[in-house]
Amino acid sequence: MGKLKAIRGMHDILPQDMVYWRHLETVFRECVESYGYQEIRTPIVEDTALFKRSVGDTTDIVAKEMYTFTDRNQDSLTLRPEGTAGVVRAGIEHSLFYQQAQRLWYSGAVFRHERPQQGRYRQFNQFGAEAFGMPSPHIDIELLLLSWRFWQRLQLTTALNLQINSLGTFTERQQYNAALVEYMSRHLEQLDAESKMRLHKNPLRILDSKNPQMQSLLENAPKINEFLGTESKTQFAQICTALTAANIPYTLNPRLVRGLDYYCHTVYEWVANEFQAQATVCAGGRYDGLVAQLGGDTTPATGFALGVERLMFLLKQQAPPLQRRVALYFVSVGAVAQQQALFIAEQLHHALPELIIITHCGDESLKSQLK
Ligand code: HAM
Repeated sequence: MGKLKAIRGMHDILPQDMVYWRHLETVFRECVESYGYQEIRTPIVEDTALFKRSVGDTTDIVAKEMYTFTDRNQDSLTLRPEGTAGVVRAGIEHSLFYQQAQRLWYSGAVFRHERPQQGRYRQFNQFGAEAFGMPSPHIDIELLLLSWRFWQRLQLTTALNLQINSLGTFTERQQYNAALVEYMSRHLEQLDAESKMRLHKNPLRILDSKNPQMQSLLENAPKINEFLGTESKTQFAQICTALTAANIPYTLNPRLVRGLDYYCHTVYEWVANEFQAQATVCAGGRYDGLVAQLGGDTTPATGFALGVERLMFLLKQQAPPLQRRVALYFVSVGAVAQQQALFIAEQLHHALPELIIITHCGDESLKSQLK
């Protein structure tokens, strides 16, 4: 039998990388908790219907990428492909959104059966923050300020570019959808096979195409902002004005549509300047319809999630290396001294529980121990 290996697209996080991981985790937790976000943990496995009804049947995530299986009770279960749906399900189930604003954060593994490459995995990790019950764009602004503070603490502000767009209300987006289908149908011969497939199922996603032959077609397509009503425009303008006032640089990207169906109004992505592919490190936006769509009372909501592996890659490239700290290393020669060393170390562990103390265990010479 051959050697057993990790599943393709799933990876180990080795001790030398855990230093970065823990740093990210600590800074993220301090950041979100300092804005009043409380931690929530939901199961990794959920009813398949949850993701179909939230992320959307025609999205790539649901149509092609989910790890879905039938368990011993013949129930269809899915390893979560993202964190938002589970948080919303839990919030409805435990009445967390009932007559109150709620700020929640989470971290955990998510699963998507994509083609693995640098920065794209089948099991990866997200940190996320979600805010419920606040219709005002001020909460979107808070989330952007919070993420900016997080980038500042990691010294990554210049490595990332904020791209932002508004998808308007459901009705406005439907009108835009229709206009887009009409435009694309007039230029059918210029669409590649994938875009033709998306034309009637999920036309907005055509705008995401990276196919160089389709770029001029996409440049000239109708833009979503032409379809926004006064209310949507005002909301979006408020967010852009606040970003400018806070000195947070951003780029308006009318083609930013996101790969999940639940969004409305403001959506955004933080994109690493230097990466060619898999450059989006953090993404999110408003999803006012989702709580009601999953059976709860109508509840405005907004949030974001970041890909920990992508962020860690960026951090390792930009920031000075983080060292594992050892405060004390005990060397000793001879069986009696060795036992003595372990017992002295015990007294220190007791008196100074924070201190890292490593005791050499073995019969090597003093010289090789000191190495
Ligand atoms: P998403 O854009 O699908 O949004 O994923 C968020 C982040 O997860 C991405 O920006 C990226 O950094 C990371 N990511 C996605 N796929 C992979 C992959 N295959 N390998 C490594 N990293 C990946 C969501 O999941 C939404 N739930 C975000 C949100 C929260 N919207 C509102 N609240």
